[in-house]
Amino acid sequence: MIGTTRQTPKNIILIGFMGVGKSTIANGLSKSLGFDVLDTDKMIEDRQSRSINEIFANEGEQTFREMESVILNDLVGGTDHSVISTGGGIVIREENIKVLRSMGVVFWLDAGVDSILDRVTGNRDRPLLRTEDPRETIQNLLSEREPLYENCADERIQTDDLSVDEISYGIAETARVWFSTQS
Ligand code: S3P
Repeated sequence: MIGTTRQTPKNIILIGFMGVGKSTIANGLSKSLGFDVLDTDKMIEDRQSRSINEIFANEGEQTFREMESVILNDLVGGTDHSVISTGGGIVIREENIKVLRSMGVVFWLDAGVDSILDRVTGNRDRPLLRTEDPRETIQNLLSEREPLYENCADERIQTDDLSVDEISYGIAETARVWFSTQS
């Protein structure tokens, strides 16, 4: 919920749709702030020793969602001074939203359908977008998820007209202010 404050560990959490640049921004922030990067998709792949595509193909989305929640819960408590980059569907489960908000300041990287489509076209790593009409799929998923991102986020950043450096700088400065009010 944008505009609310609370005590949390000093983590920066990035949420948002596939293709908005969460991983790139997370890596930039990690360099500039000296924070570790944790990427929930990568952690699932490492733990499972297979790709997200394989997990979706063999066991389906629900099993992937279970794995996603387990990974997220494993981070609780022991994680501080990290940038946590999350999969675009992590907000589907309401309990994940609560966990994410308990772990740090949550930034929603938002983008329009055109830029998302531009960024994901040609990339075969996103099973949910392997459809006949990816634009329509993106539009539908975005309208389902926007209220969930909104509910989870402390800050919303419209990324369409900003460079990676501009986005990273904005997040770093906002997070500094946020953390300075924490004990
Ligand atoms: C998903 C997003 C992906 C990955 C999986 C499902 C989603 O992560 O978790 O393919 O439901 O939006 P990215 O947002 O990093 O692409």
